[in-house]
Amino acid sequence: MNTSLFYNQTRQSTKKISLFFKRYRFKTNYARTNPQQTVIEKALRHFDVYYSKDFNELWPTLRVGLLSQPKQCALVNNFGNPSATIDKLWELGSVDFTQLAREEKNSYYGKIGSPTLSLNEDKQVQDTFEPIAEEDEVKRFGQDDSLNLQQFMPTTRVLSERESLEEEEMAKNTFQGDQSEVQIIFSNEELPKFINAFSFEKGVPTMFEPPTKSSNGYLDYILIDGGALLPVFALDLQPEEVVGDFCCGSGGKSMIMLQSLMPEQIHSVDRSYLNMRNLRSSFQFFLSNYKDKISTHHVDLFRFYDRYRNNIHFDKILLDVPCNSDRLSVTSPNMNMFTGVKQSERLELTEIQSEMLCLSLKMLKVGGSLVYTTTTLSQAQNDGVIQATLQQFLETDLEFMIHDLSRLVTKFGKYFWFHKTSAFACAASPFVIVMYDFFEIYCYTKRLRKTLKQIPGNRGHWLFGQLREWPDELDERVLKRYREKVHKYPKWRQEWMSVFCPELILSHPETAKVLFNTANPKSMLCNGVYRMGEPWLGNGLLNSGGDIWKRNRKLLTPAFHYDILKSYLKVKNEAVDKLLVSHTSKMSKNSHESFEIFSALSMLSLDIMLRTTMSYETPVQELGEKHPYLEAVIKLQDLWMNRALNPFLYSDFIFNLSPSGFKFRSLCNYVHGITDDIVRVRRQALKTNTPSTRKYKDLLDILLLARDDSGTGLTDKEIRAEVDTFLFAGHDTTSSALSWTLYQLAQYPEIQEKCRAEIDKIFTDKDDDDIVWSDLTKMEYLTRCIKESLRRVPPVPVIQRRIDGSLDITGVEVPHNSPVSIHIYEIHNNTTVWENPLEFDPDRFLLENTKKKDPFSFVAFSAGPRNCIGQNFAMNELKIVISKVLRKFRLETDPEKPSVYKFSIVSKAMNGLYVKLNPRSDLE
Ligand code: HEM
Repeated sequence: MNTSLFYNQTRQSTKKISLFFKRYRFKTNYARTNPQQTVIEKALRHFDVYYSKDFNELWPTLRVGLLSQPKQCALVNNFGNPSATIDKLWELGSVDFTQLAREEKNSYYGKIGSPTLSLNEDKQVQDTFEPIAEEDEVKRFGQDDSLNLQQFMPTTRVLSERESLEEEEMAKNTFQGDQSEVQIIFSNEELPKFINAFSFEKGVPTMFEPPTKSSNGYLDYILIDGGALLPVFALDLQPEEVVGDFCCGSGGKSMIMLQSLMPEQIHSVDRSYLNMRNLRSSFQFFLSNYKDKISTHHVDLFRFYDRYRNNIHFDKILLDVPCNSDRLSVTSPNMNMFTGVKQSERLELTEIQSEMLCLSLKMLKVGGSLVYTTTTLSQAQNDGVIQATLQQFLETDLEFMIHDLSRLVTKFGKYFWFHKTSAFACAASPFVIVMYDFFEIYCYTKRLRKTLKQIPGNRGHWLFGQLREWPDELDERVLKRYREKVHKYPKWRQEWMSVFCPELILSHPETAKVLFNTANPKSMLCNGVYRMGEPWLGNGLLNSGGDIWKRNRKLLTPAFHYDILKSYLKVKNEAVDKLLVSHTSKMSKNSHESFEIFSALSMLSLDIMLRTTMSYETPVQELGEKHPYLEAVIKLQDLWMNRALNPFLYSDFIFNLSPSGFKFRSLCNYVHGITDDIVRVRRQALKTNTPSTRKYKDLLDILLLARDDSGTGLTDKEIRAEVDTFLFAGHDTTSSALSWTLYQLAQYPEIQEKCRAEIDKIFTDKDDDDIVWSDLTKMEYLTRCIKESLRRVPPVPVIQRRIDGSLDITGVEVPHNSPVSIHIYEIHNNTTVWENPLEFDPDRFLLENTKKKDPFSFVAFSAGPRNCIGQNFAMNELKIVISKVLRKFRLETDPEKPSVYKFSIVSKAMNGLYVKLNPRSDLE
């Protein structure tokens, strides 16, 4: 018996064969239950319940409107051949409703009055003007409910949909008459002169043909949803303005703004990579050099605000917030806000909208205007959000006015029904996020492929690339591998961290200097190493890029001025004395034992960082073996490094669910607790005006007291990111440099002795053991030893950048977004740059030798605009600590505990570094 036979059975005969075809049996019980709702049905039901209450008898009409196609219109491309296009569109029988509205302006304005456009009287839009007096042009909300903004449904705070379901709560939060007065003015916006948009008369279902190329090769018109025009007209664009198109989607409204030929610069911001890509690729069909006028920012609005709030001030902003997207919700299951995964996001929409509106208002110039648009009829997401957001500004000196745009709408009433456009959906489901990350990598991999053909190296394994060449333990073998690679490819090469992650590696001054000389940002792409450290270090100086980095670098550079560095010498001397005293007492008990110096020197450098740049006193060195902060920093780096070498953990979503992600987050919480405490203590001191004994502003003062022209300071998040960055970048690198230099001096007793002779000479004429500023310049040989140590074991072995735009590296064009690593270790151990690189020879750094070298041959502190801001700070500390240790002790390695290098973000030693400290008998 087969299935077709089954389908031919009557219901009775089905019963007979039910034993064999149980799963096809008609199940009366189940059949009686309601079929599962589709997402579209769910959306419609939701709207039926809520909108029918709000719009009463008008709802059925609106419902039909929502279910209909949006009205298409053709926007003439002013960068093609506009006059020919206009003729062509007239010939098609379409109407230039913008031109007609401009011509009819006078007749409409003659009838200006309080427009009675309310949703109930929609049909009478263009005919029902009552004349009003001039003084009535400005009204105050709450004074006259007869205004057509009577639909305004403000709340004292933003209500999420979840909350508004609670009727009682709703009542509590409903706007109370005169609590807030918002000025409402009737706008008489002129339509931009150069915008010509055509449409067919109401009721004519004709569609436009796809656009064709005009005589200069650009497409003659742009097909847009007519609803997108109104917000742009409402902006009332003027020449030379700086305009923001926030949550710009695929850039339809940016295109309309551009066609007005008005703005000086448009900043189109959207967090969706796909939208941005569509925008960039479609703009090319309509005009050349659109980049001169439009800056595209693939970033979410919150980050955009963090980055640019002090640099860009907007004359006009068009904010198209993510919302219910009513039409999309009832016509398409894709990106539908009523799907289960989007449920909680939808319920929080009003809060997101309000935050976005608040940030956008803060980016406006005084006198600027913002148009807030949604594609929903939800009053909570429209009027409620506006009212609640404006409430937040009540205590400020800022004044806001609401423009009533009903007159603008009426200009098109004859020709056009405005329907809502589809809008940008703000977030995606976890699955989409994972796909999105890899999609981003796939795109740059595709772009990079052509370039990679011109670069030596190969892809390795088709799936894993060179990933399997890495040893299980990141020890000396990593360095050995690097030396072999640079021997084979002395200038640069390609490496693949898996099928998705190609990378360029620069290992020679000639190639690396091209990148060093730019301020290209760090890679924040999915496989960008710095991105993985962001939950810990935030967007501090190390991770940030672009204008934020420029601003903060400028702000913080004075904290490293020579005068300030001089005043730190006392603390540095005291800190190292403390270390020496505690070690001398330990030594008397265990005179023949070697000591683990890495952790002791880590505590020393953390102590110095806290006491100098943060003026924060805490008994770091007194705590004993290891400070919990230092342990957390080591563990954080281990987890960070493991993630960087495991492409499966590149996705935040997967990483956050993994045990490593969990551990990483809890360690971040711990270190953030420490930095928060540091900031809190200083804030309190500043608030209570506790007098400071310092004559200078330290790094923390600068961060807390910095103000821009508008008097705005850094946010708490920004301050914490900088404190975290400096604590890590300042102490960990220095302790690595200190430990490996002392260890190498222990390995080379003759060189150590030469250093000691130089130091003894400096101390001959001194009364005390403190190193002063003038002593530092006398330590020439020690300086060469330190540099040689940093060359052999650079504390930061690898750094990474992302190409912004494109970059020509020795004749090869490296495309936008490519991740490029500079292998500092390889440059320092490249036999074509340094002879016998494995030898410890401080005289390489004699002036006569370095003169012949490319300045980019030694880059332990990086080079160019993004070099290490703390290099003088670090060099001073290295000289003071090492000279004081050598003055007191002779160093010897412990043959039973040899060093094992550990590759990490900052170089370490596998099980610490053991050195015997023999007190100098010749000094007593
Ligand atoms: C021997 C000690 C040090 C070494 C070898 C070192 C090395 C480096 C390197 C290679 C970079 C470039 C990183 C990159 O581009 O990704 C860098 C950046 C940085 N370093 Fe250092 N550093 C040391 C000490 C310090 C100290 C003491 C401080 C702070 C007091 C500091 C703060 C920073 C900061 C904030 C950056 C980021 C600078 C920027 O991008 O504008 N470093 N350092």
